Amino acid sequence: MASSSVLTLALYCISAAAAQPQVTTKNGVIQGLVKTVAGHSVNQFLGIPFAEPPVGALRFMKPQPPSNWTGVKQTTAFGAACMQNTTDRTVFIPYNVQLSEDCLTLNVFVPGTVSNTNRKAVMVWIHGGAFTIGGTSIYLFNEFVVQTDVIVVSVNYRLGPFGFLTTGDVNAPGNAGLWDLIEGLKWVQDNIENFGGNPKNVTIFGESAGGCIVSQLAMTVASRDLFHRFISMSGTALSDWAWVRDGPQVATKVGQSLGCNAAASEKAKLVACLRATNATSLLRASDQSMFPGRNSYPFGPVVDGDMFPLPVVEMLKDINSTVMKNFFSLDYMGGFTDSDGGVNHFFPTINITFGVPPTYMRDTLIPQFAAGASVYHKDEIAQKLREVYYDANADMERTGRLMVNLYTDTLFSVPTVGFLRSHLLAPGGSTFLYYFTKEPSFPHLLPVPDWFKGVNHGDDIAFMLGPDSAAQFNSNLTGIEGNTSRAFMTYLANFAKTGNPNIPDTVPSPWPEYTYTREEYLDIGDVIINKTDVIPRRINLWLDTIPAILARPTTSAPSTTPVASEGSLVQLSTMLAILIMLNASKLLN
Ligand SMILES: *[C@@H]1O[C@H](CO)[C@@H](O)[C@H](O)[C@H]1NC(C)=O
Ligand SMILES: *[C@@H]1O[C@H](CO)[C@@H](O)[C@H](O)[C@H]1NC(C)=O
Ligand SMILES: *[C@@H]1O[C@H](CO)[C@@H](O)[C@H](O)[C@H]1NC(C)=O
Ligand SMILES: *[C@@H]1O[C@H](CO)[C@@H](O)[C@H](O)[C@H]1NC(C)=O
Ligand SMILES: *[C@@H]1O[C@H](CO)[C@@H](O)[C@H](O)[C@H]1NC(C)=O
Ligand SMILES: *[C@@H]1O[C@H](CO)[C@@H](O)[C@H](O)[C@H]1NC(C)=O
Ligand SMILES: *[C@@H]1O[C@H](CO)[C@@H](O)[C@H](O)[C@H]1NC(C)=O
Ligand SMILES: *[C@@H]1O[C@H](CO)[C@@H](O)[C@H](O)[C@H]1NC(C)=O
Ligand SMILES: *[C@@H]1O[C@H](CO)[C@@H](O)[C@H](O)[C@H]1NC(C)=O
Ligand SMILES: *[C@@H]1O[C@H](CO)[C@@H](O)[C@H](O)[C@H]1NC(C)=O
Repeated sequence: MASSSVLTLALYCISAAAAQPQVTTKNGVIQGLVKTVAGHSVNQFLGIPFAEPPVGALRFMKPQPPSNWTGVKQTTAFGAACMQNTTDRTVFIPYNVQLSEDCLTLNVFVPGTVSNTNRKAVMVWIHGGAFTIGGTSIYLFNEFVVQTDVIVVSVNYRLGPFGFLTTGDVNAPGNAGLWDLIEGLKWVQDNIENFGGNPKNVTIFGESAGGCIVSQLAMTVASRDLFHRFISMSGTALSDWAWVRDGPQVATKVGQSLGCNAAASEKAKLVACLRATNATSLLRASDQSMFPGRNSYPFGPVVDGDMFPLPVVEMLKDINSTVMKNFFSLDYMGGFTDSDGGVNHFFPTINITFGVPPTYMRDTLIPQFAAGASVYHKDEIAQKLREVYYDANADMERTGRLMVNLYTDTLFSVPTVGFLRSHLLAPGGSTFLYYFTKEPSFPHLLPVPDWFKGVNHGDDIAFMLGPDSAAQFNSNLTGIEGNTSRAFMTYLANFAKTGNPNIPDTVPSPWPEYTYTREEYLDIGDVIINKTDVIPRRINLWLDTIPAILARPTTSAPSTTPVASEGSLVQLSTMLAILIMLNASKLLN
């Protein structure tokens, strides 16, 4: 450099400035980097701190705003992923970054040139991973922003015990991971204009647990005015697995395995001991393997009396409340994949390599689900379930696929359609449903047995991110899949821009709003086409038939048919309470 001419120096400075965009945030100046994707620039600002490190006294507590810095902070690499067990290496485990309890960073992807005079729509991504694993570093939104001209922000949040341990009182109130996301959304409101984003045009979107969280954030006044639309992919607040009901008991058990013995009333003592434990030990004591026989997640969102004053079903009954009025005012898009229930860890305790024995389906799994629905009506419900999910003439492989349908419906499809219907309980924002049926040519992102058919949980992520970004999942999209991907991106971003997935950018098929009478949806398959009445026999079973059975008053004793206790008895109480409420609602008619 010393011997360079003035001209060279000037050029160097210009290209350096172009290569290293700087933005002033409320907390200080940051410098990102520019990537070129398909001939277009993407500015990446990675690992921006948006809260104080949630360590020491802040462990289990709400996040605090970050300290300011002087000088220019380099934001050119993803920050650490939040503490998690990375042993079972699926593609959704962050593999390219450190783990740390100090993980509250976010990332901004800006297409084109960064200019604070732009007013681009903003989409905030909330990753999935059962509230326990995952991180933002897996999701590269380069192609997405280039293709759609929106700004994407992805936010880390605390996971497992760090994000969700609760004693049910002030000592560890719960939902810390969700408060992290709210802090991230506040950061967006405070700073996104300087990146060229419109803080009045914010959409949150997420998949799996991220989909649950997105819909949960739509149901709290704590996030009011922080976003205007939301997209739930394969998970909603109606899913039973979106809520933990026994948080304080879980905390006590974690404490016991760490030698933090405290009487039930000594919550402060318990939490002080848990805070004094190092992060690695706390993680180990909170591992799923420490809860043998448990059939639901030990850590996740809770009804805490603060962010969520009441359970969802109670909130939905009071449609004139502030929180519900806000919920109805938001635009909502929800969807699921046709074999969402193929997600591997929901499978029962039998070995499913070659399929599922029909007798197991008939005599074990279906009675377990029926008992999960109601001890009073379980025989009648089991009969109805067998009509849909059991075929005496089916082989093991086909029975395996029927089992995937049963899990798809109870964990994903019914909670999504039910939540869409909840959104229609009062007039307000738009409501759209998609059904993702484009079976990938590439390996499923999560492992499945050979007999599995369809689109597994998470496969839609590869389509959302596009061919270049999906390559890191070993997902090679074919030419036609590239087209599906571009169409999916366009619908999502159109919705973020206008609340209507059909405009402004051209889409392959019109996508009418979901209504109660016609149940319109978009089928994203080999052909993208609008249809009505998604998987009607299965949806009607859960939305009409079973609620009608359950709503019937019963004076008889619970049915005494024995139910095998091993296997994963899926909890259905949250979902069913809401389906009964929806079925009884006059508003929908
Ligand atoms: C950080 O800087 C902002 C101005 O950009 C100021 O409003 C705020 O008070 C500062 N925060 C702290 C903790 O100093
Ligand atoms: C955490 O604590 C355990 C048990 O006291 C100890 O074995 C381990 O070395 C500690 N780990 C760190 C990173 O300090
Ligand atoms: C991580 O998960 C594996 C597999 O489930 C388990 O065996 C191991 O004990 C876990 N490790 C920690 C630190 O929790
Ligand atoms: C909500 O408010 C409307 C209009 O004021 C009223 O007609 C309706 O009965 C209220 N519904 C509930 C559930 O309170
Ligand atoms: C399931 O069965 C297959 C085929 O027999 C075998 O390879 C596999 O190890 C079994 N899995 C488990 C978890 O037992
Ligand atoms: C993806 O496609 C590229 C180029 O055709 C090829 O080199 C690569 O091996 C493929 N990867 C996989 C996982 O199939
Ligand atoms: C993808 O879409 C483009 C433009 O609509 C079309 O020309 C092309 O044939 C499509 N590719 C495939 C493989 O269908
Ligand atoms: C959101 O952005 C889109 C274009 O990106 C624009 O058409 C729309 O008016 C914006 N909405 C608001 C509320 O600013
Ligand atoms: C698809 O949308 C178009 C335009 O809104 C509509 O005319 C058509 O009836 C829809 N198709 C179905 C199956 O609803
Ligand atoms: C309630 O269930 C009954 C019985 O299947 C069905 O006919 C009715 O349409 C449902 N009502 C609503 C509002 O969903």
